[in-house]
This record gives sequence, C-alpha cells and structure tokens, in this order.
Amino acid sequence: MGANKISEDVRASDAPACSLIPDNLDPCLIVIFGATGDLTARKLIPALFDLFVDGNLPRPCSIIGCGRTSLTSDEFRQRLKSKCSSELTAQSRWDEFASLLHYRTIQYDAAATYEALAIFLRELDQQVGTSGNIIFDLAVPPELYPVIAGRLSEAGLAAENEQGKGWARIIIEKPFGHDLASAKVLDETLHQGFKEHQIFRIDHYLAKETVQNTMMFRFANSIFEPRWNRNYIDYVGIVAAEDLGVGTRAGYYEQAGAVRDMFQNHLLQLLAMIAMEPPASFSARQIRDEKIKLLKCLRPFSAPGQEDALVLGQYGPGKINGQDVAGYRQEAGVAPDSLTPTFAMMRVSLDNWRWQGVPFYLVSGKRLARKDTRMVIQFKEVPHSMFRGVLGDQIGANRLTFGVFPEEGIRLSFQAKVPGPRICLRTTDLGFKFYEDFSGPVLAAYEKVLLDCMQGEQMFFWRQDGVELAWEFLDPILEVCEQCSDRGRQLKFYEAGSWGPKEVRGLLSSLMD
Ligand code: BG6
Repeated sequence: MGANKISEDVRASDAPACSLIPDNLDPCLIVIFGATGDLTARKLIPALFDLFVDGNLPRPCSIIGCGRTSLTSDEFRQRLKSKCSSELTAQSRWDEFASLLHYRTIQYDAAATYEALAIFLRELDQQVGTSGNIIFDLAVPPELYPVIAGRLSEAGLAAENEQGKGWARIIIEKPFGHDLASAKVLDETLHQGFKEHQIFRIDHYLAKETVQNTMMFRFANSIFEPRWNRNYIDYVGIVAAEDLGVGTRAGYYEQAGAVRDMFQNHLLQLLAMIAMEPPASFSARQIRDEKIKLLKCLRPFSAPGQEDALVLGQYGPGKINGQDVAGYRQEAGVAPDSLTPTFAMMRVSLDNWRWQGVPFYLVSGKRLARKDTRMVIQFKEVPHSMFRGVLGDQIGANRLTFGVFPEEGIRLSFQAKVPGPRICLRTTDLGFKFYEDFSGPVLAAYEKVLLDCMQGEQMFFWRQDGVELAWEFLDPILEVCEQCSDRGRQLKFYEAGSWGPKEVRGLLSSLMD
C-alpha cells in the first residue's frame, strides 16, 4: 500500500463515521400510561425534555399523560415540574415544553375510557397535525400490560395506516412475563392488535452507549475478531454488581429475585453482544437474528457437568461505605424467612464451534462491595514462556475489560518490562475512555430508547423469540430456586458490602481486579 493511501486513510478516520438523528422525524403523539408514577417523573419526562431542548423531538408533537389520579393538564404540568430536578425545570424552555403536555384521567380496565381516549386523540391529532402517528408507552406495573394492550386493540388504537391513521407503536419494559408460559400469554395479548414491528420491548442496558460500543469494537476493528474464540480466550466474565439493596421495591423483588430481575434480560443481552457471530449488516433484523442464534446455543442447566454451575445468595446485614445496612430479610416488605436470591452466579456454556469449552461467568447481586458493571475477556496464557528460566512460569495473560459503570471505556492489560537492570515483568494497561476528547451531545438511555421508537428502529430492543429463548433457558434454573426441596441449603448468605457468597469470592476478586 502506498504512502498516499495511508495518509488518505488517516484523514478519513479523523472524521467520525456517524449516522445522524434524522431531522425529519415523523410528527407524533406520545401517550404515557402511568403518568403520575415514578418512571414517568424520573426518566420519561426528563428524557423527552432533553430531546426537546436539543431539538430532537419531532415537530409537531404532543405528550399525553394518562393515569388513575384525577388531575387537570395544568396540575399534571405543575406536578412534573416539582418532581423533575430543579436544574431541569429552571431552564427557560420548560414552559415551552410544558405546553406540549396534556393529561387524561382514565380507568385502566374500562372500555369506555379507551373509546373516549380514542376520540380525544383523534381530535388532538387533527388539531396539532401529527398525521395519525402515535406511541403508547406503558410505564405501569407489568400486570397492567395485557389489560392496556387489550383495551387499546379493542378501541382500534393499535391499527395502522387506515382511516387517517399513521403508524402506532407500543413500548413495554421488562419483566416480559414471569416465566415462559406467562411471557407467551402476554405476547398473545399484545399481538391481538399490535404486530411485532409495532412492539418495542425495552432493555435499558441495550440503550447504554458502552454496551452498544462492544458491537462497534468487535465488528469495526479487525485485530480482535480473529482471536475471539476458544483458541485464544480462556473465560469471559459479565458482572453487574450493585451496592444498593432492594430499597422500596420489595413487593416486586420478592416475586422476581436476581435471576428474573437481571439475568432474564440485561445479562443475557450482554452475553449475546459479546458472543454472537458477526452479523452480515448493521440492521435490526440481522443483529437480532445473530443474537437469537447465540441464545439457541445456551447449554441447558440440566446437562451433565452443570451441577455446580449456579450459586445463589442473599445478603445479610453488613456495612456499605462505612454505614450499617440491614440484611434482605430485615428490609421493609420482605418476609423474615424469605428465600429470594439477591445474588446469582451462573457458569454458562455455549455449544457452538466458537465457544466450546469457554466458560462465561454471569454474576449479579445487590449489596455487593460497590456498583460496577463490566465485561471481562480473559485471554489464554502464552503457550510457551521463553522467560521461564528467569521469571518462572507465571506470566499474566492478556485481559480486555469493557467498563460500563463507573469506568466507561475499554482497557487492555498486557505485560511489559519493568525499567531497570533486573529482568522483571509488570502488568500494565492500554486504556480508552469513552467520553474523553468528545464534546458532542450524549443521549441518556431513555432518550435513546424513545428516539429509536420514534424512528421505528428496533435494533436495541428485545424480539419475542429472544424473550422466549431466555425464559426457556432460565425456567429450569428458577425451578431450582423456587421449587426444589432444599431451597434453604441452595441459598448462600453473604455480608452486605462483601463480594458475595464465599463460594464465588475468588472468581469475583479476579474479575473485579
Ligand atoms: C433494573 C433492575 O432493570 O436494573 C434493578 O430491575 C437494577 O434491580 C437496575 O438495580 C440496574 O440498572 P443499572 O443501569 O443501574 O445498572
């Protein structure tokens, strides 16, 4: 290759390769069910406001909050203003944004409510000029998903492209069912009126920039992909550790536990991002197809040799940041003899050519030593050490770490010489910080989710076949957690503020190095 070609490449790589947010987003109405709830005030409205301020909300656009509480639209606006942070509402553009907000009091299970809502939305659409396009965001407890989706379909609100209608989309958040059977029932209800391309199943981990970046790192660079397999990789660790406890969510968490709360969704998605085959193109269909293929390779937990592949734990009292904290069983709303796991470690095997024999350690727990989310690719040791005579056998192997929180970036550790007359090696790092040298706008997870939905882009959302494969894999594990005769013995207790049950401390201290 000539020098000219090289300098052209260098110049070309100076400019970021970007696909931009289209400046012609379709106008639309955004209907939020659960509008007086926490998710709306903490995440959805701030995300919509930020999109508005950055000019990334479609024009025209109106946001309609729906909830059981009786409120006027003015009261709704005031309420959000007081619930959103002062930094947000102090900005001069709040009043302009607030004029887009409306409120409707509704009864979630009353057909008449939806008939009246349909009339209201039709009138508003004509008045504002949103071309019949509509998003329904279900920020409600999951037991209401089938109720609301069913009623929307009956009222004709799920229909698209007929009688003056544009597109219609529905957003729901995990949990997508409680197990495989209930996930299928939920899906059937959603599909009564909505087609698969209209359904957006959020996994907020997929909206994280650093999670998306694993795919760019793998498939936009050529140096690692040839080594991304059983010949070079010793094991993979995927960790989502939290220092927070169950907080005020005991009602939900007692039913869910760590496996449903974190593994059925976030951790399996991270696994798929790290382990899938290269998709043929950057399209939602191709990428989600590859993830599905990967989920089909999960070795069932009932297979021989998997007996010690699962460790479940529950936090007892301990200290976080020097402060005494209660054990799980002492938390408000938790049964004093609860057997709900707040921690799980799964050693997952993938039965395909690329990954045969490579263990994937998936770990997540509450009240661990600190909040830290990362993916660790541990490479194999050098096959032969020429330093053996001088340094012995121990040479640290390379490791690639994708930091999601608090470190957002990538670290490659390798061996280097210690300066000086003696022959010594030390482990050192090459690092990349995701936001360093970057001053452009950054989308928060919910901004990304909402924007993708407005664009009809499903790449970073779950597809139903993936949801079902995840449950198929986890249902037998949940059976062990919930129905086996020695549940009490299965559960290992750990001190809050530690790195989990003693059975996994070695693994965790190595992964969190
Ligand atoms: C949620 C779980 O999906 O993810 C919570 O329900 C958990 O229990 C949270 O705390 C963790 O998300 P993040 O983005 O803080 O890592």
